[in-house]
Amino acid sequence: MTIKDKLAERAAGVEAFLAQCMQDRGIPARLHASMDYSLMAGGKRLRPVLTLAWAKMLGGNKDAVMPFAASLECIHTYSLIHDDLPAMDDDDLRRGKPSNHKQFDEATAILAGDGLLTEAFGLMSAASIVKGLPADRVLRAIYVLATASGAGGMVGGQTVDMEFTGRDDVPLEELRDMHAMKTGALITAACECGAILSGASENDIDNARNFGKAIGVAFQIVDDVLDVISDTETLGKPAGSDEEMGKSTYPSLIGLEKSKELASEYIENALKRLAPYSGDEQEFLSELARYIVDRVY
Ligand code: IPE
Ligand code: IPE
Ligand code: MG
Ligand code: MG
Ligand code: MG
Repeated sequence: MTIKDKLAERAAGVEAFLAQCMQDRGIPARLHASMDYSLMAGGKRLRPVLTLAWAKMLGGNKDAVMPFAASLECIHTYSLIHDDLPAMDDDDLRRGKPSNHKQFDEATAILAGDGLLTEAFGLMSAASIVKGLPADRVLRAIYVLATASGAGGMVGGQTVDMEFTGRDDVPLEELRDMHAMKTGALITAACECGAILSGASENDIDNARNFGKAIGVAFQIVDDVLDVISDTETLGKPAGSDEEMGKSTYPSLIGLEKSKELASEYIENALKRLAPYSGDEQEFLSELARYIVDRVY
């Protein structure tokens, strides 16, 4: 099986859980439809798959960790809905379908994002309440994920992204910090929370965090590269959007080739963090890290 197939197989497991996790929560019909529309539109499900793989590699139970993993996908999906809004990247296509605000309307899209973000915290708590994971582990993981998603993490990174739009003089370190916040923070938390929830040692948690940091920045560099070299149909979102919006990106700052080299360097660094481990999950995470630079969407 190729890594693409392995990822798809694991993503299907996450999707099955996601498909029922917003049921019976008293959500008004149109809001529910809007939340489900984006949540179930596909997507690689990279973040929950990372959480599950780190948890499993470190001795955790996949089923117990699933609600928490799913909560990461809810937060990620909310970030995509808001990222596409006219006030932000103004993109009309996402995951191969009209963006949420195009399919519904702006107010509904904003509220669907708010709903997914907030419901995510309910799901996280369910990891302890329903699945019996130790409350101290779940509490620590919630703290890590809240911090990563919040104003000093993803949301902060999105703000910096908006501030950098239209500039061509952003220093590379500042661009890296922005990538680490807007995209790296959630990917890092995905790995770190998998380790925390499985009751891993501080050393293992450090490895998960540093692996996540490295693949997180690489992931956004490749996202920037694909925006230039790929096409809308393959990406399922508008190619060339960054240039059109005047975004500060790695390709715009250092060119395509250097961007690709840099992404590969980050992946090599990430792989060092897997050296202490062995077995199927270690192999999967190694392949997944490499796939981040080889992927076409
Ligand atoms: C896109 O993320 C937004 C970024 C943070 C770069 P993904 O490429 O993981 O999007 P999906 O979930 O597969 O649609
Ligand atoms: C967005 O980065 C990162 C998020 C936090 C959503 P991009 O704006 O490059 O993501 P895409 O290309 O629209 O998926
Ligand atoms: Mg954006
Ligand atoms: Mg965007
Ligand atoms: Mg992009």
